[in-house]
Amino acid sequence: SEPFTVAIDGPAASGKGTISRAVAARFGLAHLDTGLLYRAVGVRMLDGIDPVEAAQALTRADLADEGRLRGAEAAQAASKVAVIPEVRAALVDFQRAFARRAGGAVLDGRDIGTVICPEAEVKLFVTASAEVRAHRRYLELRAKGDETAEEAVLADVIARDARDSERAAAPLRAAGDAIRIDTSHLSIDEAVETATRVVGERL
Ligand code: C5P
Repeated sequence: SEPFTVAIDGPAASGKGTISRAVAARFGLAHLDTGLLYRAVGVRMLDGIDPVEAAQALTRADLADEGRLRGAEAAQAASKVAVIPEVRAALVDFQRAFARRAGGAVLDGRDIGTVICPEAEVKLFVTASAEVRAHRRYLELRAKGDETAEEAVLADVIARDARDSERAAAPLRAAGDAIRIDTSHLSIDEAVETATRVVGERL
């Protein structure tokens, strides 16, 4: 039988990362945060490397430096290289191979249900208002000692949303058969519980 694939898409700080890790752990599936691929290409671009060449040469080892990859600079750079069709094309095989892992997999990103795994058994689209997402990101940054003002974090979230939804190549969009989960008024536990129930019903 085909391996079980869960596709989880949504904008930055919607809760999709937390939900993806929890769903993977709950059902014993492998998890790939595909944003890390674009972040890794983004930091190579900041280092002066051609992003298309960086994407073509990307290996698992390039995803190891999570400290730098998780930063705001890497996020903005990621959303810039993510508009380049050749960069996206170079990352498709890695993602599809991961999705076909024997034990099943959870992939989270922006275009998993629409482009990378349109045949996924379960598709979730996780959203929350820009204000709620900016507030979460602001609290996360503060906990790490980063004093960026909340208005600046909101501006950053809105800029990245616009770039991700308005690009021609694989824009951020819910697949027609995706199940939407709006986490604006849900706690982390409630969001995880909702997603786990939806996946469990389809396993
Ligand atoms: O999810 P994360 O915030 O780490 O993603 C960083 C950026 O990478 C996004 O803003 C988006 O531009 C890009 N991305 C993408 N397609 C994916 C995952 C991420 O375009 N599947």
